[in-house]
Formats: sequence, structure tokens, C-alpha cells
Amino acid sequence: MTEVPSGGLPELKVSAGVADKLGELRRLREEAKLGGGPRRIEQQHARGKLTARERIELLLDDGTFEELGMFVVHRATDFGLDKEKYLGDGVVTGYGRIDGRLVYVFAQDFTVFGGSLSETHARKICNIMDLAMKNGAPVIGLNDSGGARIQEGVASLAGYAEIFLRNVLASGVVPQISAIMGPCAGGAVYSPALTDFIIMVKNTSYMFVTGPNVVKAVTHEDVTFEELGGAMVHNSISGVAHFAAENEVECLQLIRKLLSYIPSNNMEDPPALPPTDDPNRMDDELNSIVPDSPTKSYNMKEVIRRVVDHGEFLEVHEHWAQNIICGFARLNGRSVGIVAQQPSVLAGVLDINASVKAARFVRFCDCFNIPIITFVDVPGFLPGVSQEHGGIIRHGAKLLYAYCEATVPKITVITRKAYGGAYDVMSSKHIRGDINYAWPTAEIAVMGPDGAVNIIFRDEIARSVDPEATRARLVEEYVAKFANPYVAAGRGYIDDVIEPRETRPKLIAALEMLKNKRDTNPPKKHGNIPL
Ligand code: HXC
Repeated sequence: MTEVPSGGLPELKVSAGVADKLGELRRLREEAKLGGGPRRIEQQHARGKLTARERIELLLDDGTFEELGMFVVHRATDFGLDKEKYLGDGVVTGYGRIDGRLVYVFAQDFTVFGGSLSETHARKICNIMDLAMKNGAPVIGLNDSGGARIQEGVASLAGYAEIFLRNVLASGVVPQISAIMGPCAGGAVYSPALTDFIIMVKNTSYMFVTGPNVVKAVTHEDVTFEELGGAMVHNSISGVAHFAAENEVECLQLIRKLLSYIPSNNMEDPPALPPTDDPNRMDDELNSIVPDSPTKSYNMKEVIRRVVDHGEFLEVHEHWAQNIICGFARLNGRSVGIVAQQPSVLAGVLDINASVKAARFVRFCDCFNIPIITFVDVPGFLPGVSQEHGGIIRHGAKLLYAYCEATVPKITVITRKAYGGAYDVMSSKHIRGDINYAWPTAEIAVMGPDGAVNIIFRDEIARSVDPEATRARLVEEYVAKFANPYVAAGRGYIDDVIEPRETRPKLIAALEMLKNKRDTNPPKKHGNIPL
């Protein structure tokens, strides 16, 4: 009997032949775990980054990771690559659990050829994506890569394309979450871009199609990696990323939190937690949150906070298009997606970015059976040459399309303004809003009183002896007639006018009532959303 090297495992007494074989397995496993070797692991740490395996450890429930493809090596021979092989080939793949639920994960290992993507590296990623699709569980990608493995040429490009295809086929079937934890450049950016959510880590991650050197050569602009494609650039300017994490640990925790609101696939309902916040809780403060003056703002996040379970709200795209708010919360333990105007930013107007942001969020919720709660306080679409020339017609149509198409439960609360086309867009009854409430402060009209009076009474005001007094009187009459919820409620466009303090119980009752809602769209290959 011979002792097998333990490799941290229980010592075994076995025959010499078996000992050799077990010893080899244990040695290879240890080698694979070292990726590109101790020196490169040190460099990775010195860059302020964790290794692929450390990240997976932090992401998943303790001890649940099952690795697949640990012994895969590349098959390239050019540029001396036949003499340089690393077990796993620069990506750690497998499955594990988050809050007990199955997830598939790949983590690129920057210590092996800079995490660059080879034919076999891509095949490993595709393998777990295929498993995720067949088994109905999310795919989480931890990206940290120098892009295409340059020595492999077109084989690497083929690998990317195979991943892109799977990203698209998996879209709307299983949730896909991308964390950017290092470089993500060139065409490589398009895999995360095709997934549902992108989380970037501040200071250590960047994304761009062409880097600073190419930018300098083509446009003569001097720009750093961070300025071109750092976490805050993509979170606040481009809208490419949905979340910015302070560090890697926060990033990985955020993935866990995000998944807690989302079902594992499109055939499941989102996970419901046992209710721990009183469903009948009223909030008197809400009765006075909307200011008397229609031109004064208030913070819609305060409304959301006061209504949802324990005031917990996971905001998506927090730093981009802040005139609209999107995010996840729970009502009586059930996951909901919230879309809301933010009156304190640009008066909550709908512009190009706000429309695109909310449209994508609404479509995500609809894909994954998450009911949508919409809080409306919208003065309309943003006027201006830049908006018109930028295609507000095309982009605004995206939001309209998304709401019309969505068949999940849709509950709307108009807190104040719901003017013009924006009234129609924001989950109105006419586009299949299921339950539409208004607060007594709601103003549902074609436009604001001043604009309306200036148009319909232009001649009368011009002819009058005191035009200002006439205008003021007419505005007052218009306000009395239209700046309220009762005209719409009288037509049944509003199901009920409720006290703001009652909002939480009313929403919870409506959600419960809509629990088994089934609605469909006409059979078709797919619609033609105005992209
Ligand atoms: C092969 C690569 C590599 C790559 C990095 N390495 N990128 N090996 N293919 N694409 C290797 C380096 O040779 C080095 O090996 C190790 O990874 C770490 O790289 P460093 O340069 O030392 O690290 P750092 O200084 O942090 O710089 C990181 C980097 C830089 C900015 C990512 O490595 C870089 O610019 N790489 C090239 C990026 C690139 O042009 N990629 C192709 C883009 S085109 P050693 O042995 O020294 O540890 C593309 C097309 C995709 O991706 C198309 C999809 C449709």
C-alpha cells in the first residue's frame, strides 16, 4: 500500500498503481487551480483584482461550485503556443448555487494569456450556456480578458460568434448577467452587450470597441482607458452598463442580490419570499408628498421607498437617464419591476435615453414574468431640435411598443401629471394596463393648462382688454375642468382614485388579484420593435 499525496484531501491507502493515478489527478488539479502560475496571480492581486477562482468562490454558495472542463487545453501550434499550455485554457467554467438555486458561471482567468479567448476557451463557455438553456438556469459571465487570442486568429473570432449566437438564443429564456472585472475590448464587448445586465467594477474595468490608441490615430482625441470606457462612463453617459460596483466583492454580492428578484427561466415565476412587511401598512406621509404647485418637484424614490417591502429598492441604471427610475422591489414578498418618472430630474420628462432605458427594463420584466408597477408624473416628451433630430420619435416608440407588448400584470399609479402622448405610453388602460389608479393630485390631460389655454383661446386672449387677466381666468377654468383625475375616471380610464397613503395595500391587493393573469399576443415569428 502506498500513500497518495493529499492535496488537502484525506490521505488514502491504495495500491501503488492506483496511487500513481490518484496522485496524478491531484497534481493536475492543483496545477489547474494555479492558472497562469503564482507570479501572474501575484500580478493580478497587485492590480487590485481577484483571480477567477476567488471570484467564483465569493459569488456562489459555499462549497457548491462544480467545475467542468478543468483539463481543457488549447490546440494552437503557431507562435510557439504548442509549448505553452495551461489547464483550463484561461476560463473557469461550471455550475453552482446562489441562495440554493442553480446557476451556470464562467470566469475568465487573466493569468492565462490575459484571459484571451481561444477556440477551446470559447467552447467551454458555449458548453455551460448550452447546459443553462437545457436546464433553465441563469448564466453569469465574469469577464476579464484581453479579447481574441491573437495567436489563434480566425478560430478565436469563430469562438466569439458561437457565444454571440448563444447569447441571442438564450435571450428571454434564461437570465444572463455579465460582470466586467477587467478589460473587455473590441468585438468582445458584444457578448456582455447582448446579455440582460452589465455590472462594471469601478477603476479596474473598462469596455470599448476601439481603445485609446486607435481613437488617437483615427480622431486625434487623447483619452485614457477610464475616460473612454470606465465603469462610470458606461453607467452615466453611454448607458451600456446597468450597475457600478465599488469593488469586486460588491460586484459579486450585487449579482446575488439581482438574481433574488428574477426567476431562473422564462417558464418560472420570480422567487417569492415569505412576507415580512405588513401588506396593509398605510403611509400618511404620502398624502402630502406631492407639492401644491405643479411646477415644484419631489423625489419619486421616496414614494417607491415608502410603498415597497422594507423600503428596499434595487435600482437599475441608477446613474443614467435619471429622469426615469427603473428597478426591482418586493410587494408582500413578491418581486416586481418598478418604472417611475423622477419629477426632480428634468421634471420627469420622457426623452430619448429615458425611453430606451425604460423600454429595455419593461421588456426584461415581461420576458421573465415580473409584474410591472408604473408611477406616472410626466409632463410629456422633451421638446427640442436635438431630441427630434436624435430620433425621439423612433426611441419613444420603443417604450410604447414595450408596454403594449407586455403581458405581465401591469399596475399604474398616476401621482400627478399624465400629459399628452406620455399619458398613453406610461402603461395606460388603453394599452392593456390591468389596474390603473390615480391620486387625487393627478392631472390627466392633453397638455398642461398654460399650453392648452394659449392654443385654444389665443384669439380670445389677444382680443381681450386685459390679456393677462383673461389668460389667468381661462387657465383657472381649465385647471378646474381638466387638471384632475375625475374626467379620466368618469370614462373608466382610471379604475379608482385612491388616497396616496393607501397605495401599498392597493398595489398588493391588485397584484394578488392578477396573480394568475394570462394574456397573449397574436402568433407571429417576432414583432418589429422600432430599433
Ligand atoms: C494573447 C494576450 C492577449 C491577447 C493579453 N495577452 N492580451 N495574449 N491574446 N489578446 C497576454 C499578454 O501577452 C501577457 O502575457 C498577459 O496576457 C497579460 O497582458 P499584459 O499586457 O501584461 O497586461 P496589461 O498590461 O494589464 O494589459 C492588458 C491589455 C493588453 C490592455 C488587455 O494585454 C492588451 O492590449 N492586449 C491586447 C488587446 C487586444 O488587442 N486584443 C485583441 C482585440 S481584437 P504574459 O505571458 O506576459 O503574461 C478582438 C476581436 C474580437 O478582441 C472580435 C470578436 C468578434
